[in-house]
Amino acid sequence: MCGIVGYLGSQGAYSILIQGLKRLEYRGYDSAGVALIDGTGSLNIHKAKGKVANLEQTAAAGNTDGLIGIAHTRWATHGEPNDINAHPHVSQSGNIALVHNGTIENYAVLKQLLCEQGYTFKSETDTEVLVQFIDYIHASSDCTLVDAVRETLLQVEGAYAIAVIEKNNPDRLIVARKSSPLVIGVGDGETFIASDATPIVGYADKVIYLKDNELAVIERDKAISIVSIDSNTPTKIDVQKLKLSLAQLEKGGYDTFMLKEIFEQPKTLRDCLRGRITDNGSRVVLSGVELNKETFLNAERITLVACGTSWHAALIGKRLIQDFCRIPVEVEYASEFRYSNPVLGPKDIVISISQSGETADTLAAIQIAREKGAFVYGVCNVVGASIPRNTDSGTYIHVGPEIGVASTKAFTGQVTVLTLLALAIGQLRGTADSDTVKSVCKSLMQLPEILEETLKCDPEVQKLSRIFTYAHNFLYLGRGYNYPTALEGALKLKEISYIHAEGYPAAEMKHGPIALIDHEMPSVIIAPSDSLYDKIISNVQQVKSRGGAVVAIVSRGNTAMNDIADFCIEIPEVPECLTPIVASIPLQLLAYYIAVGKGKNVDQPRNLAKSVTVE
Ligand code: M6R
Repeated sequence: MCGIVGYLGSQGAYSILIQGLKRLEYRGYDSAGVALIDGTGSLNIHKAKGKVANLEQTAAAGNTDGLIGIAHTRWATHGEPNDINAHPHVSQSGNIALVHNGTIENYAVLKQLLCEQGYTFKSETDTEVLVQFIDYIHASSDCTLVDAVRETLLQVEGAYAIAVIEKNNPDRLIVARKSSPLVIGVGDGETFIASDATPIVGYADKVIYLKDNELAVIERDKAISIVSIDSNTPTKIDVQKLKLSLAQLEKGGYDTFMLKEIFEQPKTLRDCLRGRITDNGSRVVLSGVELNKETFLNAERITLVACGTSWHAALIGKRLIQDFCRIPVEVEYASEFRYSNPVLGPKDIVISISQSGETADTLAAIQIAREKGAFVYGVCNVVGASIPRNTDSGTYIHVGPEIGVASTKAFTGQVTVLTLLALAIGQLRGTADSDTVKSVCKSLMQLPEILEETLKCDPEVQKLSRIFTYAHNFLYLGRGYNYPTALEGALKLKEISYIHAEGYPAAEMKHGPIALIDHEMPSVIIAPSDSLYDKIISNVQQVKSRGGAVVAIVSRGNTAMNDIADFCIEIPEVPECLTPIVASIPLQLLAYYIAVGKGKNVDQPRNLAKSVTVE
């Protein structure tokens, strides 16, 4: 949700910033911009609507010199995507340039105050208010720019990660954050800043994750200083080793990141499972559970909070925890939970699920849960992100950077970790019998090979996708463990192909949605051989007898659906609780090929951003 990059060092900043923006483009791509201070002390700004490539074209005609600069790729919140609303924004004095990720909630009040002081505005953004307010405090109270930034941030309500440069000082970069991520890359005589570590990979191998409410001053040839915004006192600087490689950020021969990430799943699940099942395959070992045995033994309820695809994983997690742990489980959208005045106490465990670890609603939900005394456990992918840093304990899914906006490998990683978690808690509480644990562990260990086998459906799904490229609506139906799989399949299709799709519990069709069925409304039925298979067969017959085309995802060798469905895609047979992982592979491929057939940009679908760091 907006990406920011900055550089201060001895190399030309422009190419580093552009490269950084391209790596951050998954966060937003409505418009992009860059601000540089050149050797003559002139502040040069270039902006363009659309992708970073457009910015490069625009900037090519101007001055891109300078050893210091800041840059931004935008996901619009205040004001439509256009050149004027693009960042960086510059103060009225022309001295200060700023980029911002987040939302300033009280911007209207601050803007009014500035207007009364004679300030005028060019854009519709909350960010321009921020830079003008810094300028106003700087000019009116004879303080340093660093103090003016800090004073301004004390007035601001909302979320921000910002980077600020001053025309008269080509040797200093000021950055600060509250509820939006910011990473500082520490190189040899050069410093990088970015919304996440990806732009820093290949340039620096040490990073500082700025904490909430911190402001850092980065000066040429000086040590970085970090203070608390509230108290203006120095805070402890924790320099960490960056564990990301360039190969992880590249497409590896695939046309798109999404396709690479779909095909990577055998490997990513191997990474996710590594070291988490004992060598003899009889037990799950999760340090987050081992270290908090008393909490898991005494828990009276578990609440799962998440958004989007992670929420679908949470729905599967509910089934898993109920089945293996026999504890009451609730699932909440983080965005609803945070405003629901939830009843929570010390015997509650709240599990937050998030790929990015930066989703604003999920972060707010866990903050509330902690305030109310619940134990908060995180299931996250991005190491060092805000969510894992704000939870009591947790488990990383370790599936590597997910760059395609539509989540694929993170979903299967989340469901795998939730399976491990449910088994680990069930073992501890004595609610999961050892034979069941062993049998699920055995299948989990075989999952990478099973997914390799599943991915062989690729050519068949690709062929099938051509039949449905021009459908306007789709239904995805499933039951039990696979009702959430249906929701996830529908979300994948919506996100990248812009076809309207709805996920529904198959048996609920007869209570209304069946009215939608006609020959123009295809249904995708997730029907592996599980405990509800016979039931779903009759649900499919109800659809078929009303003229709707049916694509069924079935377990290999199960032929009962052949006579009913129009098309069957076979997946390997696995224990019921693992069917969502396997069944989601053909659904990801189907959405992918339909979207590609329609000529859509699957990695950067319209209106979406990978990491939703605003409310
Ligand atoms: O990073 P998170 O898992 O917290 O993100 C949650 C959702 O924004 C995310 O899953 C979104 O729905 C994806 N675009 C789904 O493909």
